[in-house]
Amino acid sequence: MDVSKLMFRDGLMEGERILVTGGGTGLGREMAEGFLKLGATVYICGRRQNKLDETAAELTEKHANEPGGKVVAHACDIRDPQAIHEMVDKIWADGGALTGVVNNAAGNFISRTEDLSVNGFNAIADIVMRGTFYVTLDIGKRLIDEGKKASFLSILTTWVWSGSAFVVPSAMSKTAIHAMTQSLATEWGRYGLRFNAIAPGLFPTKGMSARLSPGGQGGNSGGNMNPMGRAGEMHELANLAVFLMGPGAEYVNGQTIAIDGAGYQANGGTFYPVLQGLGDAEWDQMRAMIKGTNEKDKADRATG
Ligand code: HXC
Repeated sequence: MDVSKLMFRDGLMEGERILVTGGGTGLGREMAEGFLKLGATVYICGRRQNKLDETAAELTEKHANEPGGKVVAHACDIRDPQAIHEMVDKIWADGGALTGVVNNAAGNFISRTEDLSVNGFNAIADIVMRGTFYVTLDIGKRLIDEGKKASFLSILTTWVWSGSAFVVPSAMSKTAIHAMTQSLATEWGRYGLRFNAIAPGLFPTKGMSARLSPGGQGGNSGGNMNPMGRAGEMHELANLAVFLMGPGAEYVNGQTIAIDGAGYQANGGTFYPVLQGLGDAEWDQMRAMIKGTNEKDKADRATG
């Protein structure tokens, strides 16, 4: 990310302690960098220790000359509540309560719903819906016990308003977290815990392109289908995340804010227009490509 495009003053996030799930790659990494640049202590977690260590080393080196801020990497699969508990113990031992949590970790792939198995559904729902809740619950309980304030931010999609064909487990799970955002914003607001969400449009990342546009066949709200004629840029997402996580906007609570160039208003921000025309052979081919990506990631996790 081009950090010179961050719109906030250096040091704004000094003293903030933020966990970014899925922070080793993709959007999580970009937001983590934004917080770090502005002086926060950032904890990143994900399933691949090697990837997390690489990201932590790169970000630390890139921002070595700036005051404040550090990045700490913890391997943790958010589908496992015990693993979350142990990781959060380590974070607390490293300096006390978190002041913020970014629920960013996710999984997704395009598929006709009739081609999904129960396992396929659970692969997404266990990460996006259950995993996000487990993280929120473990950390929320500690904060309530200690009487500490914090900001929770979940990364959703505009499908929480429109639904979305060909990504039904993701659309359902993200919608559940949209409901969690609104529900806990009210229930836990009295504890000083606030809950917001960002619904990004197309911000291309490697993990996403390989599973939502394998071989370039997916297509969604970017490029010429978007009123702005382009995809999002990472600093734009990071600026919104800092606004919601940093000091100064604490009265914003219970909101899911889209950042998609009005792709949602123009076309629903979904895959339907492109994917509804595909036949069996094309779906088989895309499934094989997605499987290749998943296998490669699994091999990486085994060696990490
Ligand atoms: C049908 C599929 C499939 C496919 C996997 N499955 N890919 N079914 N079509 N293309 C099925 C498998 O056959 C299996 O079911 C089950 O899903 C579990 O597969 P695994 O590979 O064993 O799962 P796992 O290793 O747990 O991996 C989880 C994952 C994977 C979600 C499937 O994609 C992953 O780790 N993703 C993380 C990164 C990612 O997805 N990034 C994109 C996020 S984009 P069976 O029945 O065969 O056992 C995003 C929103 C973007 O979240 C919004 C843009 C606007």
